[in-house]
Amino acid sequence: MVIFKKTQDIKEYISSVQAGGTKYGFVPTMGALHNGHLSLIQEARKGGQAVICSIFVNPTQFNDKKDLEKYPITTDADIELLTRAGCDVLFLPSVDEIYPGGTEETPTFDFGYLDTILEGAKRPGHFKGVGQVVSRLLDIVNPDKLYLGQKDYQQCMVLTKLMELTRRTKMKVVICPTTREADGLAMSSRNRRLTDPQRIVAGVIYQCLVSIQTKKESGSFAIVRKECEDLLTAKGFATEYVALADARDLTLLDEYNKDIPMVALIAAKIGEIRLIDNILL
Ligand code: PAF
Repeated sequence: MVIFKKTQDIKEYISSVQAGGTKYGFVPTMGALHNGHLSLIQEARKGGQAVICSIFVNPTQFNDKKDLEKYPITTDADIELLTRAGCDVLFLPSVDEIYPGGTEETPTFDFGYLDTILEGAKRPGHFKGVGQVVSRLLDIVNPDKLYLGQKDYQQCMVLTKLMELTRRTKMKVVICPTTREADGLAMSSRNRRLTDPQRIVAGVIYQCLVSIQTKKESGSFAIVRKECEDLLTAKGFATEYVALADARDLTLLDEYNKDIPMVALIAAKIGEIRLIDNILL
């Protein structure tokens, strides 16, 4: 695996390899890699593509300073994992490489409705930062495909919209299934901050999503939402939302609508750790 820290160096390298006909799949990350990230690398390797991964803890997407300060940094272990997973190129930039003119001077995008609900409402400025950094990374690495995890469902929608807003019509977004622990907990870099007792109950988020999915045939979402909120509270979570939405555009729904594809989404905090997850219905 070739590692680059400088924007100019990776740009030159990638364009010279692309000139020889190589296609690139890109997996952007903030490091602290786990099997969920590695599944994206595996997916990106399919079809003989080369894979670029970036590790950059983007300060502009953290609405909570404490969350940024505590974000796990495990670069040596990440390099080891990426090498073993068959990643071809790693971009490890500094903040100055990504935002040479400062964060204020780097373009941001308006995601409209998508930035006003759920994660957008709970984490003001978060998607502005995500759009800003991903657009910048795409300018630098210029991949053919962008690989994202379904765990961050709303982020996938925001970044699909980014492609539209920035007229990257040829760049394909590939959304890969969520990788889960044995008890259903969605893999996330934040999981490593859970204490043992918190980790034991954390699988309840997935149990709630499955019960929302199961009851779609005969139940009322209003009732199952209340059951989920009560269960989360009983297990020590502070629930931020248990929501149901149209999977195509995230229009929020009060009740099940079997005529459309739906997605159920949960965000809840246990102690200081905020977890999110979703399931398609
Ligand atoms: O999902 C993440 O890890 C981040 O939001 C991303 C897409 C790497 C942008 O910083």
